[in-house]
Amino acid sequence: MYELAPSMLSADFNRLGEQLNFLERQGCRWLHIDVMDGDFVPSISFGMPVIQSIRRESHLFFDVHMMVEYPEKYVETMKQCGADQLTVHAEACRHLDRTLASIREAGMRAGVALNPATPLENIQYVYDRLDMVLLMTVNPGYGGQSYLPAMTEKIRELRKRLDAAGYEKVDIEVDGGINRDTADTVLEAGASILVAGSAVFQGDMEDNLRFFRERLEAYSGGGR
Ligand code: DX5
Ligand code: ZN
Repeated sequence: MYELAPSMLSADFNRLGEQLNFLERQGCRWLHIDVMDGDFVPSISFGMPVIQSIRRESHLFFDVHMMVEYPEKYVETMKQCGADQLTVHAEACRHLDRTLASIREAGMRAGVALNPATPLENIQYVYDRLDMVLLMTVNPGYGGQSYLPAMTEKIRELRKRLDAAGYEKVDIEVDGGINRDTADTVLEAGASILVAGSAVFQGDMEDNLRFFRERLEAYSGGGR
């Protein structure tokens, strides 16, 4: 599946409803929602009340990225708030297998996220619990950082491992520093869901979205 997941963290919160509505009118299907607790990452973003309230107006697929400690505490609540997919960090889960299972049991797609320095081995025994792997391509916590070039090989290697193990349907999402300069690199390496914050919300949104749509179409036609 090839998708752009605009990251709400870069939106203008004064005009949030309007901007989310614009994304939908432009044909976006996904929305990436970064929940931060000031503990797993230094910053604090937004949480349940915000997600619940945008859910009332939005038809987008809510791709919720939990940058929090003890994410297992919020599985049920996030489902009730309207999450369609819940991604937890492997680094924040003491019982990753159990937490991933509980996400699917709650009726959501399950994702696991890895920080740049976390090895792929940490998830090799939970492939059967996964719908998606999120590879952080910057250190998590803030929008607007630069893509870490070492992540290209990590994307390539993960795609190879998933395919070799028979998990061709598990998607790879990349998050951080994805823009006009890096989109082709990550698509070519095997990512198919691109999170983009600043590259969507800064400047001319319509033109930004056109760029991503064209690149994703180019790959979805020719590739997986
Ligand atoms: C970073 C967040 C990202 C962030 C990406 O910790 O997980 O989703 O919004 O922002 P850009 O695309 O600006 O790097
Ligand atoms: Zn994110």
